Amino acid sequence: MKNLIFNVISAAAFSTVLALAVSPALAEGLADAYQDKFHIGTAISPGSLFDKEVMQLVNAEFNSVTAETNMKLRHLAASQRTYDFNWSDRFVAQGLANKQFVVGHTLIWHRSLPAWFFQQPDGARPSRAQLLASMRQHIYTLVGRYRGQVNGWDVVNEAFNFDGAFRSSPWLDIIGEDYIEHAFAFAHQADPEAELYYNDYGLVNPQKQEAVVALIKRMQKKGIPVHAVGIQGHYSLSYPDLQTLDNTIARFAKLGVKVMISELDVSVLPFPGPEERGEDAEIDSKRAQQLDPYPEQLPDEVMSQFTQRYVDLFCVFLKHHAAISRVTFWGVSDARSWRNDWPLTDRTDYPLLFDRELKPKPVHQELIKLASSYQKVCPLTGNNKDE
Ligand code: XIL
Repeated sequence: MKNLIFNVISAAAFSTVLALAVSPALAEGLADAYQDKFHIGTAISPGSLFDKEVMQLVNAEFNSVTAETNMKLRHLAASQRTYDFNWSDRFVAQGLANKQFVVGHTLIWHRSLPAWFFQQPDGARPSRAQLLASMRQHIYTLVGRYRGQVNGWDVVNEAFNFDGAFRSSPWLDIIGEDYIEHAFAFAHQADPEAELYYNDYGLVNPQKQEAVVALIKRMQKKGIPVHAVGIQGHYSLSYPDLQTLDNTIARFAKLGVKVMISELDVSVLPFPGPEERGEDAEIDSKRAQQLDPYPEQLPDEVMSQFTQRYVDLFCVFLKHHAAISRVTFWGVSDARSWRNDWPLTDRTDYPLLFDRELKPKPVHQELIKLASSYQKVCPLTGNNKDE
């Protein structure tokens, strides 16, 4: 009798274990699936950090977090010479508490600059030496505060034009081309353990790519630490061409730096022409509808294209998994994606893996499956071979 009871109990226990093993509640998240390939990250918007439901999803699915907006200079130091660290302290603390790889974004950029930073107390423009000193001060303040806590920094963001020339900015115009090297050197002094990144979009473009390759080589030659290149990845259903992306990743990997896909999203909306993007562009109502075709929901057919597009992109990333350290999505759900407001404002886009109700789209499961099946599933164009 004793034995029988024992057997019944152990059979019940066994079936519970079995049920747990296959229970969807315990299904692995994206980051688990890619654990031996690369980090899977997401950007945390200002509001997401205070949204319990969103942060639960973040902690279940992602093992890296990037500050989407609130570590940019204008957000930290809006109007005075004082910094407001409320948001960023909480962001870093939550990343640490959840054992995530924490990325600071971004130290030096041509956007999000408060006017006071480029004015002396008497209103005059700072000299090169003065701006270098305040740049160092900014980098020391931020990187120093999170020394040993933020794992990697986007040190310089978007420093080149498509023709490969340095992009005009107060940094370039006042300091000169070596502002980039100084920024990396200051960041390294402030936290010698932190990884340091150059981050940009449009790196599939040959001239821009050439300029960034030259920059990395120059810094390597001078012994200035640069650990990875961030390919932002603001893509669409057709851009960029997969082979070009494949070649781009291979090219940077060859330099001996890591490659990161740092801001991935796939817009399903038509890309407006340059004349449609200005502030006073005139768009009639018919064209406005064409440019914003899915205000209510995404048709199934487009959803399938979207799923396939992400699978194709991940085939390329997985091929290069030895060189890629991280793939970060630029946001969690479509609800807060910046693509609803870029390159045109006020549209309804569907660029991320989770919908407006935070439900995973079919692509989520497909990408999880792909992590273990890509060698069989990815096309034979070379993308199925590990490099
Ligand atoms: C964007 C954010 O997503 C927006 O919320 C913000 O208003 C503007 O900046 N390249 C970058 C990011 O490096 O910092 C940008 O993020 C998107 C383009």
